Amino acid sequence: MKLGIVYLLLSYVKVSICLQIVGISVPAMKQRGDSVTMACDFDLEGGRLYSVKWYRDNEEFYRYMPRLRPPQHAHRLDGVKVDLERSSARRVHLRDLTLKSRGLYRCEVSEEAPSFHSAQSEAFMEVYYFSRESPRIEGHERLYEVQEPLDVNCSSAKAYPAPQLQWHIDGQMVTEPSWLLEFAPKAAAQGLFVSQLGLRAPAKPHLRLRCVAIMASHRRERTVVIETNSTSRRVFSNWILIYLLCTFIIRHKTVS
Ligand SMILES: *[C@@H]1O[C@H](CO)[C@@H](O)[C@H](O)[C@H]1NC(C)=O
Ligand SMILES: *[C@@H]1O[C@H](CO)[C@@H](O)[C@H](O)[C@H]1NC(C)=O
Repeated sequence: MKLGIVYLLLSYVKVSICLQIVGISVPAMKQRGDSVTMACDFDLEGGRLYSVKWYRDNEEFYRYMPRLRPPQHAHRLDGVKVDLERSSARRVHLRDLTLKSRGLYRCEVSEEAPSFHSAQSEAFMEVYYFSRESPRIEGHERLYEVQEPLDVNCSSAKAYPAPQLQWHIDGQMVTEPSWLLEFAPKAAAQGLFVSQLGLRAPAKPHLRLRCVAIMASHRRERTVVIETNSTSRRVFSNWILIYLLCTFIIRHKTVS
């Protein structure tokens, strides 16, 4: 009788103690081909762990149940390759991420009887692809007149998601909206995108234009120089001067 009361009290105490998930740690962005370690931090507050289960977009891919031998079990999903040796009750390690690895990751922790409490937490992971290729610039080869609006476009290499593009003129980022021509990203094969941004700033002699494509902490860039027909005329007259000088020297030599 006394024992029964004690047991009731204990289980009451146990039920009232709540399992809490302190947090899930999933990186917001990873590169295709990378590995990632995701963590699920929980506090059982005296309860016993029954299971930890991991899901991507509601599909289970990993579970840890301390009562089972072995305690770990992984299900293969498209883009989700679990490395069991580097996974445990509190973390899961994924290898060789692909663009299909993106999704909403959730961990769900359950306590043993009698409480069977469970708690969960989730976070989204994006997977990007950004080749080493520099962006391409078109429209800089022709001569511009001074003050004529440029007709120059920049296209990123194929990437996922669409990279951000910036124009810089002589080292200064262009923020003037009337100089920038925004285009919607173009869809390419395999779910990739090409970003495009036009530049319509007024031409000046020797403008150094740089287009920068940005993804996460990576940048790819290309620089070109714009010539106006006034600069080319100056270059031409310089060549004439050099030519005259040379012929003068040669003639002078042959005479002496
Ligand atoms: C830049 O793109 C716009 C829109 O696609 C096009 O009309 C224009 O001819 C392009 N300019 C160059 C130099 O490619
Ligand atoms: C250079 O600019 C002048 C004046 O704007 C223009 O008349 C001329 O056609 C241009 N020449 C070339 C080669 O573009």
